[in-house]
Amino acid sequence: MLMELTHRCPLKCPYCSNPLALDRARDELDTATWKRVISEAAAIGTLQGHFSGGEPMVRDDLAELVGHARAEGLYTNLITSAVLLTASRMTELAQAGLDHVQISFQGADAEVADPIAGLRNAHAKKIAAAKLVREAGLALTVNAVVHRRNLHQLPAMIELAVEAGAQRIEVAHVQYYGWALKNRAALIPTRAQLDEATIIVEAARTRLNGILTIDYVVPDYYASRPKACMGGWARRFFNITPSGKMLPCHAAETLPGLRFERVTDRSVGEIWADSPAFEVYRGTAWMAPPCQGCPRAEIDWGGCRCQALALTGDAAATDPACGLSPNHALMAALAVAESTAAIDDFAYRMIS
Ligand code: SF4
Ligand code: FES
Repeated sequence: MLMELTHRCPLKCPYCSNPLALDRARDELDTATWKRVISEAAAIGTLQGHFSGGEPMVRDDLAELVGHARAEGLYTNLITSAVLLTASRMTELAQAGLDHVQISFQGADAEVADPIAGLRNAHAKKIAAAKLVREAGLALTVNAVVHRRNLHQLPAMIELAVEAGAQRIEVAHVQYYGWALKNRAALIPTRAQLDEATIIVEAARTRLNGILTIDYVVPDYYASRPKACMGGWARRFFNITPSGKMLPCHAAETLPGLRFERVTDRSVGEIWADSPAFEVYRGTAWMAPPCQGCPRAEIDWGGCRCQALALTGDAAATDPACGLSPNHALMAALAVAESTAAIDDFAYRMIS
């Protein structure tokens, strides 16, 4: 379960996966409702509770919610920009039983990172926060989101993770949803940049074996097979938005014609079991050729519905990241055209 506690955030990253229409503070679920949601999720066998946003640390009740999730038996993970992480809040979260922290970095130094985050001094605060996490004895993952504007710092970002004492770094090429889709032409790397990054990651994996685990997420636009988005629609993941909508993925609200129910109207278990929006792409019965009958149908589940919609206009189409999709060549051509375009301006994420 991914809990987007809030869409409020001091950063303005132009690749944020939040929707363009952000929820306002006054619409956020209250503490009691989040606790009920966590208990209902635990009751249907949810294993992990990921506290995210926006920036989840803007909520004063974060430690209380983490403590409740731990009491309900969930593994707890905080996904944070870390710019609000003080020593006292770190202590409060550790005492609540937080298991793991993921800190996102926008680059390897302030000169590159702060203009991407849209916040001065953000990078220095993140470095200090990573130290607090390690001093508290918690597991730390560095989220290095990479794109055309910071890929030249990839080796330094890997070193930063080692120096910060992280056990893991996730080198994640931007996935083009939400604000990232809007800013795709300014972010998408060239094929040469991607190939160089892959070589750097492979070499670092060998060199840092036993010291740092490196996960690597490649951009769909250069893939020949799609990712199994969310492990398949409504199979093992759900997301709760700040205002309480329950979604099968973070971009699901872009799909037209689907009504996503609220946890204020029905329980998590009821929505998971039979909400029409959860049923629509569950399993393989909805698939048309070439997915229907494909030997990989229960491996990648046809790829990503939101990407299929964004690039073909049809959410039920085969994800164009698949080489068997009739739209695959279009996606590849788009990547070449946009990655070599002289577009440098971002539309920074903000609540309008
Ligand atoms: Fe996956 Fe569909 Fe492509 Fe087969 S045709 S590999 S199921 S996306
Ligand atoms: Fe919605 Fe992939 S992001 S199905």
